Amino acid sequence: MILYIFNKLMGRGAFHEVIDQLVVALEEKDPYTGGHSSNVSDMSTDLAKEIGIKGIALEDIHLAAHLHDIGKLKISQEILNKNSKLLPHERVEIEKHAYLGFEILNKSKSLKNIAKIVLHHHERWDGRGYPYGLFEDSIPMGSRIITVADSIDAMTTNRPYRKAMQWEECIEEINRNIGLQYDPLVVEAANNLWTKWKGVKAYNRANFESVKCKSFA
Ligand SMILES: [Fe+2]
Ligand SMILES: [Fe+2]
Repeated sequence: MILYIFNKLMGRGAFHEVIDQLVVALEEKDPYTGGHSSNVSDMSTDLAKEIGIKGIALEDIHLAAHLHDIGKLKISQEILNKNSKLLPHERVEIEKHAYLGFEILNKSKSLKNIAKIVLHHHERWDGRGYPYGLFEDSIPMGSRIITVADSIDAMTTNRPYRKAMQWEECIEEINRNIGLQYDPLVVEAANNLWTKWKGVKAYNRANFESVKCKSFA
């Protein structure tokens, strides 16, 4: 409801600022995600543009990428901040964040498309993802794009239980999973963008300063 009112009263520009604040709330709860939403959003926007997506569809992907993990606001802090590998029941709990994010956003009429993209951001091209096991084109394009950007950011970030991958290793891993986890078209777009991304300091968490939503136009 709050999002709907802001969207109506203040237009899309201010709307981005409200989204920043929501993401700040999430990142306060799960400091480890600091910068994640912003990185995933920037990379997803690049991927969408590379594929030729424009206008509202592009903006929806940009916003959905910022909000993709917003459902984690409803997941226990203990599980979110756990420093060791998750137990099976904890994994089940954390996987609920995709649906919980959908529930939060779907309450707003103007966010239905964004809610749907968020709902499916952990589906896999081969149908082995969650929450519904959708496959190939039945997964919204925005979700297929966010999956790739989300994986790249996760792989290239230090976690308490494993070190960040080098970019080269990450590129190989993404390409190894074409047609399994990832849409071949999205990986093709990523392959055109590696050089640009490697040069972006914000994608290196050590240099990360701000979670501010950048302009995507
Ligand atoms: Fe997620
Ligand atoms: Fe994520």
